Amino acid sequence: MLLEILTYPNPELLKVSNPVKKFDRHLHFLLDNMAETMYEANGIGLAAPQVGHKVRAFIVDVAINKGDQNQLREFINPKISHGSGSIIFEEGCLSVPGLSEEVKRKEKIRIDYLDRFGKPQTLETEGLLAVAIQHENDHLDGVLFVDRLSPIRRRMAKKKLSKAITL
Ligand code: CO
Repeated sequence: MLLEILTYPNPELLKVSNPVKKFDRHLHFLLDNMAETMYEANGIGLAAPQVGHKVRAFIVDVAINKGDQNQLREFINPKISHGSGSIIFEEGCLSVPGLSEEVKRKEKIRIDYLDRFGKPQTLETEGLLAVAIQHENDHLDGVLFVDRLSPIRRRMAKKKLSKAITL
C-alpha cells in the first residue's frame, strides 16, 4: 500500500519521534508499506515520520542502479556512534522536492539498532550508506538536510524552496 509522503513545510516533519515499543504485525505492515512507497518514489531512504508515523524507524536501499538487487535495510530505535572522517554529498529528500544541496556528514559510522523483530543489530559502514543513514536518522529528530547547511546556504536554500513551492 502506498503511503502519502509529507512535504516541507509540514510541521509534522519537525517533530521528534518516539521509540518503537511493539515489534508486531502493525510495525511490519508499516515497514512493508514504507518500502513500497520509497521504491515507487525512487528514493534511497524513507523515515516513518515522513509518512506521518512518529516512530523511530527508517529504511534505506542504496542499490540505486537499475538491475542491482534490492538491498533493503530496516533500522528501528537506532543510535549512531563512533562517527569519523567527513564526506560531502549532494543530498535530496522525498519530503523536500525540488531541492538538492551539498551536505557534510561523517564518512564512517557505527549504528546500533533493532531489526523488525526487536533483535539488537550493529552495522559499521561508510560512504553513501553512511550518508543515507545519517540523513534518515535526522528525520527521527525532526531535522531536515537543509538544517545541516551553513546559515548563509540555508537561507539561500529556503528562498529557493519557497519559490519552488509557490510556482
Ligand atoms: Co529525507
